[in-house]
Amino acid sequence: MLILFGALLLSTPLYAAQLNLELGASNRTWQTEELLKHPQIQTITINNDVSYKRDMSYRAVPLAALLTGIKPEDHLQAVALDGFAAELAAAPLLNDKGARAWLAIEDPGKPWPALSEGKHSAGPFYLVWTDPQAGNISPEQWPFEVASIKRMAPVAERFPALLPDPALKADDPVNKGFALFQKNCLACHRLNGAGDSQFGPDLNIPFNPTEYFGVDFLKRYIRDPQSLRQWPQAKMPGFTAQVLPDGDMEMLVGYLKHMAGRKVKP
Ligand code: HEC
Repeated sequence: MLILFGALLLSTPLYAAQLNLELGASNRTWQTEELLKHPQIQTITINNDVSYKRDMSYRAVPLAALLTGIKPEDHLQAVALDGFAAELAAAPLLNDKGARAWLAIEDPGKPWPALSEGKHSAGPFYLVWTDPQAGNISPEQWPFEVASIKRMAPVAERFPALLPDPALKADDPVNKGFALFQKNCLACHRLNGAGDSQFGPDLNIPFNPTEYFGVDFLKRYIRDPQSLRQWPQAKMPGFTAQVLPDGDMEMLVGYLKHMAGRKVKP
């Protein structure tokens, strides 16, 4: 009886996960099992994995192979089980050389380690990159515990309250700062009440951090939040100079400052 029970446990997957792809014309749901049998699946090695902070190896499918009908100019959102929503430009996800995006699939028979003690693993699905430096891929472009990937209108269309003054030229540093904000911050923060995530505080309402932080302290905070205020439950990750070079930091803070003058009335 005991032996039978044990065998049953071994043969039953720990959980049945599914990935929802809502890509506009083509919607489809993939079960873990189907993905593990995908014709393009292979074992990849990731050096210094962003979430596990060490080398990892995964069964993975090139993400481009799953993004049927998606064009480089499209905009995607990867939504995690906990509601974290990563905004992703489609172009880098479709690359087949240089920095390349993969959907890593957790095999319930060989579960991945927990991300930290008492936490879940990065599964059931985790977006990882080979050669990320080649494409200047930021840590926010490595969403884990992914449940769905959706095609969306671009951020600027969905959330006009995030837009800088329309009179500014496209290559104005403020507009470049806005692009950096979308890539690095919007996954956790709203601004002017706009955005899909509320993991961190709104960065304009009621006050913009440029109104109550000196610029030097604000930059220090973004580089390493714990270097300014320390407590064990703090959740904001630091942005090193590799991820956000000084010039980009300048433009990002420039965008925040600019938006302090564009508050929406409640
Ligand atoms: C993974 C989620 C996450 C990302 C990405 C993130 N933040 Fe945060 N941020 C938080 C959380 C959560 C807090 C609240 C403090 C804490 O728990 O660390 C916070 C706090 C802050 C604060 C302090 C607000 C205050 O008054 O205390 C500022 C400023 C800030 N973030 C700016 C940014 C900027 C700028 C970016 C992009 C470069 C960014 N954050 C990216 C999660 C995030």
